[in-house]
Amino acid sequence: MSKKLYVSYPTIHKLVKSLAEQVIASGYDPDIIVAIGSGGFIPARILKTFINRPIFAVGISYYNLEQKHTLHPQKIQWIDETQQQLRGKKILLIDEVDDTRSTLSYCIEELMTHKPTDIATVVLHNKLKPKDALFPPSMNRYFAGIETEDVWILYPWDAHDIDEHTRQEAVQQTNEGVER
Ligand code: G4P
Ligand code: MG
Repeated sequence: MSKKLYVSYPTIHKLVKSLAEQVIASGYDPDIIVAIGSGGFIPARILKTFINRPIFAVGISYYNLEQKHTLHPQKIQWIDETQQQLRGKKILLIDEVDDTRSTLSYCIEELMTHKPTDIATVVLHNKLKPKDALFPPSMNRYFAGIETEDVWILYPWDAHDIDEHTRQEAVQQTNEGVER
């Protein structure tokens, strides 16, 4: 995958704001936010600015990244003693990217076992590609900030030089303007 997409903090902040507005406009009134780490942590905190609910953090990852498409995602951190608090609650689940959908679907299925009333999912980016997993049908509210082709997204929290990263986003946007 050669094509890259640089995304800066201000862009993410605005994306999360627009996602929060969509959630509110849809009439969904969540009780809690669940963030899938680590990519969902910073978006979750921004989301709290617009939808002020407690954040529960979960960590889900592949046991072995080299074999990620042959193994199931695994919990590396879960809600544990507070999981009973999910019963009867409306959850707003957030992650940075919907790529293969495996992690997201697994997380939603696991959250469902704790009997929440409802789960809505928000992601900053959804890659338009064949997915490896389906969302459980009970998860019927899904909001994606941006639908992209199958590019590699460079998030600011991975940047070693944030000024250069921010510049790259500007360069990319200028080039897109020229191409249009
Ligand atoms: P999905 O259910 O959300 O589609 O996730 P999937 O299992 O397909 O993703 C595997 C890992 O790859 C996830 O990180 C996801 O964030 C990361 N990923 C997928 N596409 C991109 C991309 O375009 N850019 C970046 N930067 N990451 C991407 P993870 O292993 O769960 O860990 P973490 O990075 O969230 O800590
Ligand atoms: Mg992630």
